[in-house]
Amino acid sequence: HEQVGAMRNIISHYFDGHDVNINSEIINNVKDADRLYIIGCGTSYNAGLVGRNYFEKWAGIPTEVHLASEFAYNVPLLSKKPMFIFLSQSGETADLRAVLTKLRSVNADYKFLVLTNVDASTLSRECDYTLLLHAGPEIAVASTKAYTAQITVMAVLAEVLRRTKGRPQTFDMSHELAVIASAIEGVLDEKSVVKELVDQNLLDTANAFYIGRHLDYYVAMEAALKLKEISYVQTESFAAGELKHGTIALIEEGTPVIALLSEPVVASHTRGNIEEVKARGAKTMVIAMEGSEREGDDIVLPKVQMELAPILSVVVTQLIAYYTSLGKGLDVDKPRNLAKSV
Ligand code: M6R
Repeated sequence: HEQVGAMRNIISHYFDGHDVNINSEIINNVKDADRLYIIGCGTSYNAGLVGRNYFEKWAGIPTEVHLASEFAYNVPLLSKKPMFIFLSQSGETADLRAVLTKLRSVNADYKFLVLTNVDASTLSRECDYTLLLHAGPEIAVASTKAYTAQITVMAVLAEVLRRTKGRPQTFDMSHELAVIASAIEGVLDEKSVVKELVDQNLLDTANAFYIGRHLDYYVAMEAALKLKEISYVQTESFAAGELKHGTIALIEEGTPVIALLSEPVVASHTRGNIEEVKARGAKTMVIAMEGSEREGDDIVLPKVQMELAPILSVVVTQLIAYYTSLGKGLDVDKPRNLAKSV
């Protein structure tokens, strides 16, 4: 529920009219990199997968996304002029600190930017540069507003890089982010629809699947993490096109499959996958965006700027996780076996 306010905070912190308030040293370091390495864990990693598209598409900088827990032991072949962008809600994640130590030992001149929610956190102190998420304290273990804030701040950073490099853009970023904030408000106003969907389909299941293509696939990854983390339903996300390469074997009578359809360009393919799993007995639920919707879809989201759609569609999946956890009588804020730095 605080994501609307968080988005508006980010807009007011980072935009001054048309201008973007980001320190020019940060902009120059990122702009001059020949490759960006986005590194994070869990939800922060999932946000990075979405952000990669922004840096590549808008700023024209090749970008890779890595799990911090793998990176320190399995450092890829690095480019000549890399720039490292750490994503961490807490700024305290040990796996990221291990990456920092490792890379500093490889080359003391490497530069590190952290996007974090916590000013003066360990990573904020140890990295060269910080961009704050301005999401407000995120106390529940399941990360929600930090995810949408990370994507939003990456969008803002990619936008300022785009401008600095004189690359074209067809929309007004601060306006489109404000549109998303209002659209999230609309989703929250209608959240009883999500509760009904959960009550009918998810309270008695041991497993569930999310499917999607392109950005929807990345949202599916985050959606699956959220649902399994707080409801203990074993949830997997699949790139919809991969179903036929093995995973469709998991579909049984009654298996819940939630499909995300934002982009019209891939919607018809994902529709085909929905039919395939339906034919094998799956209970399908469809969350579509205007422009990709069809009669009978369970939730239809208002049309927003396509690349930013994950910030909106993920909120529906957060509500799915929330109502499933609540409906099963679990502690939504404190799932078992997990702890969190705030
Ligand atoms: O504080 P961080 O963003 O570095 O934490 C990374 C992950 O531990 C975190 O995102 C985790 O996956 C979430 N609790 C999932 O909801």
